Amino acid sequence: MEVAGLDSDGKEFKNAEEMWREKIGEGDQQKKTEWYQQGVGYWEGIEASVDGVLGGFGHVNDADIKGSEAFLQILLSDCFGADLRNRHLVALDCGSGIGRVTKNLLLRYFNEVDLVEPVSHFLEAARESLTPENGTVSDLHKVANFYCLPLQEFTPEAGRYDVIWVQWCIGHLADDDFISFFKHAMASLKPGGFFILKENIARSGFVLDEEDRSITRSDLYFKQLFNRCGLHLYKSKDQRGFPQNLFAVKMYALTIGMPKKNSRTRKVYSHKPAIIK
Ligand SMILES: C[S@@+](CC[C@H](N)C(=O)[O-])C[C@H]1O[C@@H](n2cnc3c(N)ncnc32)[C@H](O)[C@@H]1O
Repeated sequence: MEVAGLDSDGKEFKNAEEMWREKIGEGDQQKKTEWYQQGVGYWEGIEASVDGVLGGFGHVNDADIKGSEAFLQILLSDCFGADLRNRHLVALDCGSGIGRVTKNLLLRYFNEVDLVEPVSHFLEAARESLTPENGTVSDLHKVANFYCLPLQEFTPEAGRYDVIWVQWCIGHLADDDFISFFKHAMASLKPGGFFILKENIARSGFVLDEEDRSITRSDLYFKQLFNRCGLHLYKSKDQRGFPQNLFAVKMYALTIGMPKKNSRTRKVYSHKPAIIK
C-alpha cells in the first residue's frame, strides 16, 4: 500500500509497510502477539453494552442495523433468489462483541448463527442475551456456537456458512492475517455464499489508533487487500445517517467469483423498443 498514513499521535508513515514494520516487526512473533494482546486488552476494559462496543456511539445502532438490513436483503435476493425459502441459512458473526448484530439482524434472517469473539465477557453477555427465555432465539433461529477466539487464530468449519459477517473488527488484523483469515474463511462458505464486511473508511491511506491497536483503512487499501485474498467485490454501499464527525462507513459484499444470477432477479435489458407483454 503505497500511500502515507498517520497514527493517533500524529506520526506520519510513508506507507503501510513502514507502519507495520514499526508496530509488529518483520517476522517478530512476540511483537505481533503483544500487538494483538493490547488490542484485546483494550476491549477487556470496556463495558459489555451496545454503547461499549460502539465506542460511546450507541445511538448509531438503529441506523447501522437499518443500513445493514437493506444491503443484506439485496444480497440474499441476488445470490440465492428463489432458493432462499428452501435454504437452511447459516451465518458467522465475526468479532461479534456482545452479539449486537446477531441479535438485531442476523437472527431474523438466518436459522443458525455462530459467534466468534476474543473477549470472554462480551461473549458471555451474548450468551446470556441470546436465549429463548428472552425471546431472541427460537428452534428455527438460534445461535449454534460461541467461539472465544481472535480472528487470526480462527479457522471456520469448511462449507458451513451462507454469509460471513465481519463488522468493525477487521481493523485489529495486520494485513498478512487479514489475508490468511479470508483465504481460510473462503473454504467455509457454501456454494453461492458471500462475505459482508462493514468498516470505517479513512479518506486516504490509513489511520492507526494507538489506544485499541486498530487500523482504519481507505477504500483503496481494502480493495488491494481483497485482490490479494482472491475475493471478488460484488457490491458496495455507503452507510447513511451517521453523525458527520464519525469516519465514513462502507459495506462490501465479497464473493468467490461472480455470483450466478437467479431467475427471480434476472432482468432482460433490450436497447430496442419492445412491446411490454
Ligand atoms: C467496535 S467492536 C464491534 C463489535 C461488533 N462487531 C458490533 O458491531 O457490535 C470491536 C470488536 O472487535 C473485537 N476484536 C478485537 N480484536 C479482535 C481480533 N483480533 N479478532 C476478532 N475480533 C477482535 C473486540 O473484542 C470487539 O468485540
